[in-house]
Amino acid sequence: MDNTEILVEQTDNKSIPQHVAIIMDGNGRWAQLQGKGRVAGHKAGVESVRQVVATARKSNVKALTLFAFSSENWQRPAKEVSVLMDLFMFVLTKEVKRLHKHNIRFQVVGDLSRFSDKLQKNIAKSDQLTADNTGLVLSIAANYGGRWDIAQAAKKLASDVKQGTMSLDDINEETLNEQTCLANLPTLDLLIRTGGDYRISNFLLWQAAYAELYFTDTLWPDFNEMQFLEAMSCFDLRERRFGKTGEQARNEKR
Ligand code: IPE
Ligand code: IPE
Ligand code: MG
Repeated sequence: MDNTEILVEQTDNKSIPQHVAIIMDGNGRWAQLQGKGRVAGHKAGVESVRQVVATARKSNVKALTLFAFSSENWQRPAKEVSVLMDLFMFVLTKEVKRLHKHNIRFQVVGDLSRFSDKLQKNIAKSDQLTADNTGLVLSIAANYGGRWDIAQAAKKLASDVKQGTMSLDDINEETLNEQTCLANLPTLDLLIRTGGDYRISNFLLWQAAYAELYFTDTLWPDFNEMQFLEAMSCFDLRERRFGKTGEQARNEKR
């Protein structure tokens, strides 16, 4: 049994977050600290992705959502954006087969229309390949923005009302939620941000309503299985009250 297996075993009686999302930040600073260009940090970050995916699987997390590229990241230098797109393409072609072998359901969420045709085709192919898998659901948020997500959900509802397939009175939190990305997944339990900043950066604004937040100074390429297990142990220690008193929450947990 290696260290991770022992730690995973130790988490057996703990409450495991069903849905974890991660803002994978700090690649550029990691590379700069090594005297390398920012791109080296993005490349090194792919190994951290492999590690958290494997650890999530072993820990019985049901859904893992990773923020790979925000709707604001297009503002970066063209060269960096282009490398990130190439890396995305590489991951889709090389890694998705491996994910499929492990019964992982892979999907990309965000406004995909801005990506090249080739990338969009590859995304659709990966989606189809893993569509029937029943294990961990791995969602990659790319050209994703939380405000975009809420706006596109509102637009869908407005369109249904306009077409007469839905009445205005049927618009509520539940029906809006159904139109947001990730609506098919368990509620978001744990939101992790690496890289030392304390902000959401327009990630899962709607979905994070009652998620536990976990911030770490660790830069994304240094975030490995042990760090992920540490975040999950920390989650286990949190008291989730959902507006109730601590006493009510503890009584319900028993
Ligand atoms: C996160 O790392 C990766 C993406 C946003 C694509 P950064 O590239 O933001 O790294 P820092 O924050 O500059 O160190
Ligand atoms: C958030 O990181 C987006 C991703 C991790 C993909 P950023 O580095 O873009 O966030 P800000 O700009 O520092 O808020
Ligand atoms: Mg950053």
